[in-house]
Amino acid sequence: MANSSQTIKQVSSFDESEIRIDPARVLAPVDPKIYSGFLEHLGRCIYGGIVDYGNAKLTNDKGFRLDVCQALKDLDMPVVRWPGGNFVSSYHWVDGIGPKEDRPRRPELAWLGEESNVFGTDEFMEWCEYMNVEPYICLNMGTGTLDEALAWIEYCNSDRNTYYANLRRKNGREKPYNVKYWGLGNEVYGPWQVGQMSKEDYSKQAFQWAKAIRLLDPTVKLIGCGCTGFDDWDRYVTNELIKSVDYHSIHLYTCHQDYYKNVTGPAAAERGIQIAKNMFDLAKITQNAPDAPMKICFDEWNVWDPVRADGSKGAEEQYDLSDALAVASWCNVFVRQAESVGMANIAQCVNVIAPIMTSPDGLFLQTTYFPFRLFSNYMRGNSLNVHVSTPVYHGETDGNNLTLKWLKGVEPNLTLLDVSAVAKVENGQDVLYVAVVNRSETDDATTAIKVDGTVAPAGAYRWTLYHDNIRATNTFASPNEVAVTEEAVSFANGSKVAFPKHSFTLLKIALA
Ligand code: AHR
Ligand code: AHR
Repeated sequence: MANSSQTIKQVSSFDESEIRIDPARVLAPVDPKIYSGFLEHLGRCIYGGIVDYGNAKLTNDKGFRLDVCQALKDLDMPVVRWPGGNFVSSYHWVDGIGPKEDRPRRPELAWLGEESNVFGTDEFMEWCEYMNVEPYICLNMGTGTLDEALAWIEYCNSDRNTYYANLRRKNGREKPYNVKYWGLGNEVYGPWQVGQMSKEDYSKQAFQWAKAIRLLDPTVKLIGCGCTGFDDWDRYVTNELIKSVDYHSIHLYTCHQDYYKNVTGPAAAERGIQIAKNMFDLAKITQNAPDAPMKICFDEWNVWDPVRADGSKGAEEQYDLSDALAVASWCNVFVRQAESVGMANIAQCVNVIAPIMTSPDGLFLQTTYFPFRLFSNYMRGNSLNVHVSTPVYHGETDGNNLTLKWLKGVEPNLTLLDVSAVAKVENGQDVLYVAVVNRSETDDATTAIKVDGTVAPAGAYRWTLYHDNIRATNTFASPNEVAVTEEAVSFANGSKVAFPKHSFTLLKIALA
């Protein structure tokens, strides 16, 4: 455990750059749930994304897109959040159960679409079981009532002889689904939200909902609706709900056309996490709740420009290499902040601001897919407190619809080498994984890596995501334009490792 997640020494050039790693300096175990996902009824995320009814060529008998399932399985997401997002704030779950031909089509108020309700609770649960992921359901605190929320939880989780549990049985599912994670509303603070509330009204309502839900099912984990982590909403709500919820949710999307603003944006999330963590501590003190379990659930994050990829037009982003580097930096944030972050959900999984893009004939993997996959596959274990000597970015900072001009003042160490590391045991061997984003647009780095311990003579390996053009993208026509190369490398303790300009590298070092 630690107060600070890394130490930085600012140096004037990459010639002096250095990464020091002591496997004993453990910050906290990485919760695998930081590699979770999110599916919303928005654009082509559900229909045409994870399911494609009528597309016999690419689906199974349930309509699941098998190519998408495989691409998502490779991302190894422990939990998937559903059904929104803004969508949930006018979603009535009862519309989405029972015989499909009887399900009503409804106007949809978040993205001004129409919802067929063909994919509902039982379909989502079947998909989760097929994918071996844990479901996380966000409740409707917009047009929804507490009664309706309790009914949903009873339908999913109860094994008693009561109405909604029996309705589930009637719909073909005997055993409860045992959904553990339930969110108390989505972005309730936002003027774009159906049922927007003040922080005072939200806290009162969430307090009452949490109490009732725990009477119905004391085993669930509840996620309270936070803001960015650096908002007064977070302070107020945390203080009111510290004894009622298990997680505090945070959302942030970063993006900018300017390369440096784009790749440094995720540092705002790191400050948000640190500030929120301090708010939890304050609430524990003032509310006399020393044992409150409170963790951060960063249940929407990504690179997204909502003007460029408008939600009401399906929010289909075309990610370039710089966006992939930003996603790698986002993942570095979650690894470094392992002590505070209990879950994080990339928004979203497919087609909508997503790493996977489909057409009726197939899919391609966006640039952002690759860093996420490498992190989820390898960056688990104990997060380490790393020391990095690196040049630092001193220019302007900014975000998309949220201004991040404050960032450079609040975070003076916008490092050009952005690093996180984990230690773990793999097949009986102690190994280190070091994730390095070289955020310099112009300069290759060769950086000394010093490990406090003995490095095995062989057993170093690297994966590199690089392209000479920061604007390079993958498309259906050119799906492998931006790709990962991997190779076994020789590494002696203290020797220099090359990190090309604007690249992401994952380095594995086996210890003797
Ligand atoms: O992920 C897209 C949208 O972004 C979600 O619906 C909403 O919660 C957020 O504003
Ligand atoms: O695009 C509509 C809303 O605006 C998004 O849901 C939110 O993230 C943004 O502020």
